[in-house]
Amino acid sequence: MAFETTKNIWHNGQLIAWEKAQVHVMSHVIHYGSSVFEGMRCYAQPNGAAIFRLQDHMRRMLDSAKIYRMPLGYTHEELCSAAVDVVEANGVAPCYIRPIAFRGYGEVGVNPLNSPMEVYIANYPWGKYVSGNDGADVCISSWNRMAPNTMPSLAKAGANYMNSQLIRMEAEINGYSEGIALDVNGYLSEGSGENLFLVRDGILYTTPLANSVLCGITRTSVLTIAKALGIPVVELPLPREMVYICDEAFFSGTAAEVTHLRSVDKILIGDGTMGPVTTAIHDEFFAIVNGIKPDRYGWLTPVRVPVAEPVEA
Ligand SMILES: Cc1ncc(COP(=O)(O)O)c(C=O)c1O
Repeated sequence: MAFETTKNIWHNGQLIAWEKAQVHVMSHVIHYGSSVFEGMRCYAQPNGAAIFRLQDHMRRMLDSAKIYRMPLGYTHEELCSAAVDVVEANGVAPCYIRPIAFRGYGEVGVNPLNSPMEVYIANYPWGKYVSGNDGADVCISSWNRMAPNTMPSLAKAGANYMNSQLIRMEAEINGYSEGIALDVNGYLSEGSGENLFLVRDGILYTTPLANSVLCGITRTSVLTIAKALGIPVVELPLPREMVYICDEAFFSGTAAEVTHLRSVDKILIGDGTMGPVTTAIHDEFFAIVNGIKPDRYGWLTPVRVPVAEPVEA
């Protein structure tokens, strides 16, 4: 997916020109994947624009860094205001925001501790994602998610995405839009970049954190919305076949938002259309992020950026 560039990138406390944000080929991260990062959206609203769950994304970034013993050198508050600064300086909304921290140019050995930390925050235009209501045709991947004692799935680390790439490439080469990975014990885990939800008999199921999933910010938003809508929620290890016999299935994620699954391994989910539980959650999610309904959970951080096409209230 090509993207449009912006003018500024935040680097270690300062805004620099997009073209100047470069790293040396001998940086630790290039060789050993030593990065942690985030991805978040800034949505158009009726009266401007707002970043969705900025504080939660930056908290996860700090958590990821802590797991990998990376001293970022910036507080949660500083990172949040840096994200607002770069979005406002670039004046682009709606957009995608990509904070990343990595081990830079220092030593060449595997031990990262003597390579300095570099922190960047970039953003670029990303309009409304139109998944359509046709749903996604996905498969179960032949690749498993990492075993819990190999790579920590709660850390959003660059290296984890080598596993995601295997899942995604296999799916697309075989004509599917995404793959669902099982965990090391054969239970359902998650997509290459999305959490998984199933609905059966009106109950919403999702895979727990112990099944090698990322604790998605959209996942927790879906759980909050479901509870508020009175939908019973169960977090339970789920066998693969549960996805074939459920009434509804959907992915959640910053990129996928709430995307319903039409089929898995060419088995139709329900009648293939977006079911009532997914529709209720999908509609509530978009009403909140687009500022049509009140921000009752405090999920939105307004930014002073004029939007090209404001959302109609
Ligand atoms: C592996 C993986 N799982 C789940 C998610 C969904 O997380 P979020 O809702 O925070 O974007 C992502 C996206 O970041 C991901 O990469």
